[in-house]
Formats: sequence, structure tokens, C-alpha cells
Amino acid sequence: MTTTPVQITIRRPDDWHVHLRDGAMMRAVLPCTARQFARAIVMPNLVPPVTTAAAAVGYRARIVAALPAGADFTPLMTAYLTDETEPQEIARGHADGVFTAVKLYPAHATTNSAYGVTAIDKVMRVLERMAALGVPLLVHGEATDPEVDIFDREAVFIDHTLIPLRRHLPELRIVLEHITTQEAADYVEHGGDNIAATITAHHLTINRNAIFQGGIRPHLYCLPIAKREKHRLALRRAAASGDRHFFLGTDSAPHAAPTKEAACGCAGIFTAATALELYAGVFEEKGALDRFEAFASLNGPAFYRLLVNEERITLRREPWTAPSTIGDGKLAVHPFRAGETLRWRVA
Ligand code: NCD
Ligand code: ZN
Repeated sequence: MTTTPVQITIRRPDDWHVHLRDGAMMRAVLPCTARQFARAIVMPNLVPPVTTAAAAVGYRARIVAALPAGADFTPLMTAYLTDETEPQEIARGHADGVFTAVKLYPAHATTNSAYGVTAIDKVMRVLERMAALGVPLLVHGEATDPEVDIFDREAVFIDHTLIPLRRHLPELRIVLEHITTQEAADYVEHGGDNIAATITAHHLTINRNAIFQGGIRPHLYCLPIAKREKHRLALRRAAASGDRHFFLGTDSAPHAAPTKEAACGCAGIFTAATALELYAGVFEEKGALDRFEAFASLNGPAFYRLLVNEERITLRREPWTAPSTIGDGKLAVHPFRAGETLRWRVA
């Protein structure tokens, strides 16, 4: 019989997918990410989106300026791909150390994606250049045809867009972001060296029933939407396997409470206040705490061809109560698991 250790120490993890927003909201949520992660891949879906290296340099400076005193955190910037993006802008931004990766939002797939890509062919010249340079493409993998059922959009995207793209451009290095289905986990696991996937804490811990438990739960609505239980179980197996194709990406996406508690509420779950603790709980439940470091701290840097972090972080098995809100007044955000007791705590 094995017993769960009372604490674990791992290399400091990174968050390979986060929405830090800008201005007052960024100042409210950034400390949550910086307390646990050494680096984060920062999503570019601001309004207007971060489409140029100059805009990314400005945004990066605002993030660094907003860090709490003594924080050790490096934002890794991404370019928002549009039909108009010039290959040279990406190539130069990458060479200058501004762009770590490029994000593809299919137009109208999710929050702030109105400037997204309308057809893959429109960005093929950029993707070919990225493939030649080894710049990772980060994909929001959902079909946008309104005829496609919301629960099928990820699987349809893989069949109709991702597989043909990879057949055309096998050297392109791709991260399928925030995967939610067994189909995605299977595809990525067997997809070779040039594909990987991030998995969120919320998709490991809720299925679609949770969104409707006792009424509609706007704070559990995100895109891609949580799927049925068999998919959650497939994601848990993928993450806990330690397989190099899978790594941590919270997709923490804060929205002020009134914009979620509305007739047409925004998509996005704010997990930065509780993420690492929740992931640790999943690995404990899977009896896989010995593989937590691979998922949280090793597989991501390996795919991104970056060094692993040298510092360590300790998590203790010690109950604590998750915060009920982050931020004040009109900008207050409702964290995932707000007010609930969590088993693991960052020491
Ligand atoms: C994200 C956001 O709010 O920016 N929302 C979400 O539901 N995940 C956008 C995204 O990553 O799809
Ligand atoms: Zn996201």
C-alpha cells in the first residue's frame, strides 16, 4: 500500500497558456499567476489584439511594471495571428526575442477573437515561415461553423482543419491549447514530435454536468466548453501519464463578475488563484504525484526548447479556503472553487 506524501517539492512550474488582460484587471490578477509560476505564455487577445512586435514589447513592459515587488516572473509573449499578418513581422519579432509563439484563433471562436483567422489558407505564408523557423503555433482548436454542435467543435476542428494542415506542413510545431476531449488527447499522444497540448485545471476537475448543477453556473462556462465525463477521464489519464506531449496551461481567463452573471455571459474561467493546488489534487487522486513535475515543469520547456527552471516550489497537503473574490468593486472576479476547501496548498 502506498500513502500520499504530506508535501512535494518540484521545479517551479510554468503556465503555458494564460490571459493576464491589461490595466486594472491585470494588476488585480497578475499576483495570482506570479506567486506560483516562473514563466507564462501570455495570450494576445486584448482589445485591440497584440498583432505586432511593438505592441507586444509595450504589453510586456506593462506586465513587468505591474509585478508585485520581489516577484520572479517572466512573461513570454505571443502574436495574435490575423488574415493580414505579415511573415516578416513574426520572423523579426521572434528573432528579437519578443514573440515566443503565435496564437491562432479561428475568427469568432471565443472571447475577443473577432480579428481571428477566417481560413487557414489566408495565413499559409506565415505558417510556412514559422515552420522554417521552428516558431510554435498555438491553436484554439474549435470549428466555427455554427451548424457544428458546441460539444463537437474540438473533434471536428481536428478532422477538418488540424489534420489537413499538418499533412500540408508537417514541420510546423503546434500546441493544441486547452484540450477537452478524448479525441484530442489520442490525436496528440500519437501525433509525433511536432505536436503537444496544454490541459487546464478546470477541464481535469469538472465535466459538463457541473455547468448546470442546480441551475446555470456562469462561472463554469468557458471555451472550449467542458465535455462529458469520459472526456474528463481521458484528460486525467493524459496529464497523469507524464507523457511529454502534455503540459500545464491554465487558460485562466478572468472576467468581472457582472459580465459573466448576465443574459449573455462571457466565456472564461479564472483559475489563477487556485490552479497549482487543483492540479496537485488531480495527480494525488491519480496516484501520480511522481509525474506531476513532468507535467507542470518539464514537458513544457522541452517542447518550447527553453531551459527548465532551477528554483523549486513546495506544495503541502494542508486544507485551506480558496478566496471568494479577487480584485475590488466593478472588477471583482470570481475564482474557480471560490470559498471551497482545497487539499493542497503552495507553501
Ligand atoms: C478566453 C478569454 O476569456 O479570453 N476564454 C475562454 O473561455 N477560455 C479565450 C479563450 O482562450 O478561448
Ligand atoms: Zn485561452
